[in-house]
Amino acid sequence: MDRTQLESTARGMVAQDKGILAADESGGTIKKRFDAINLQSTEESRRGYREMLFTTPGAADYISGVIFYDETLRQKTKDGVSFPEYLTKLGIIPGIKVDTGAKPLAGFPGETITEGLDGLRERLAQYYQLGARFAKWRAVIDIADGIPSQFAIDANAHALARYAALCQEANIVPIVEPEVLMDGAHTLERCEQVTSATLASVFQQLHSHRIHLEGMILKPNMVIAGKKCPTRANAQQVAEATVRTLRRYVPSAVPGIAFLSGGQSAAEATEHLNLMNKIGGLPWQLTFSYGRALQDEALRAWGGKPESLTAGQKAFFRRAKLVGLARSGSYSAKQEQEAA
Ligand code: 13P
Repeated sequence: MDRTQLESTARGMVAQDKGILAADESGGTIKKRFDAINLQSTEESRRGYREMLFTTPGAADYISGVIFYDETLRQKTKDGVSFPEYLTKLGIIPGIKVDTGAKPLAGFPGETITEGLDGLRERLAQYYQLGARFAKWRAVIDIADGIPSQFAIDANAHALARYAALCQEANIVPIVEPEVLMDGAHTLERCEQVTSATLASVFQQLHSHRIHLEGMILKPNMVIAGKKCPTRANAQQVAEATVRTLRRYVPSAVPGIAFLSGGQSAAEATEHLNLMNKIGGLPWQLTFSYGRALQDEALRAWGGKPESLTAGQKAFFRRAKLVGLARSGSYSAKQEQEAA
C-alpha cells in the first residue's frame, strides 16, 4: 500500500469546486434510464451517451472524477481513445464500480447484502492497469417496519471494510458508500437514527480492518425524510441534520465526503449541498458524487438524438457548474432560472 499515492488521489477526488460524476449504471439501470427517453439500450447507445457526457467542453472545471461501470471503462471515444485515457488527459480521475449488486440477505426478509468480494483482488489489479485510481462499493440499507436490523447493518459494514482493505492494498482509493434509502415513508428523525447507526458500524469496521482513513472517501446519503413521508423537512433542516450526523460519526482524518443524490431532484441536491457548505468550519471537504442529479437534465436534453448532442452537453455543463458552486456555498436558487 502506497499511502502517499492514496492520499493524493483522495485529495484530488474532492478538490475545491469539483465533485464526482457517477456514471456507473449497470446494464439494468441504464436501460431504465434510456426507457424514459424511448431509447434502446445497446452497447453503442450506451457508449454514445457516455461520450456525450465525457466530452462536454469545460466539464473538467467542475468534475474531478468519473465512476465507470466495467463495460464503459473498456469503451472508447469515436476517435479511438479509451474513456479512462481521455479523462486522465483532462485531469479527471477514472474510477470503477466493483460491487456486483445488493442481493437478498438470507434469513432477513426485506434486507440486502452487497456482493462482489470473490475475486476482487484480481479484478482490482486489472482495473488499475486499465487506468482506474478509485473504486466504489454501494451497500443498501432500507427503512421500513422493523428494518433495518443491526445484523444487516453490521454485515454490510463488514463487507464494505473488506472491500476497502483490498482497494488500498491495490493503491486504489475506496469510495465507501453505505446508502440509507429515501424510498420509504419515514421521517427525517428516523433517517437520522438509521444513518447514525450505519455510520457508527461502518467506521468501527473500517478501524478493525486497518483502513487508512486519509486514503478513502465516504459516500453517504443526506439525512432526509423518505419520499412518501407526509411531513417534508425544509432544506435548511436537511443540511443541519446531515452535518450534525456526519460530525458525530465521521473522523476528521477522512479527507472528503461525496454525497449521492438518491432520488432528490437536481435542484434539491444542489441546494442541500450548498447549505451544508455554507455552515462552514467542517473538518472534511463536502462534495457530490451524483448520478441522477447530474445526468437527468442532460439525458432529457440529448434524448438519444445526434442533433441534440450540444443541447445535452449544455445541460450537463450547467448542472455541473451549479453543483460546483454549491461546493463553496456560492450557489443561489435563483440560478435555476438562468441558462448555462
Ligand atoms: P444517485 O446520485 O443517482 O443516487 O447515484 C449515485 C450513486 O452512485 C449511487 O450508487
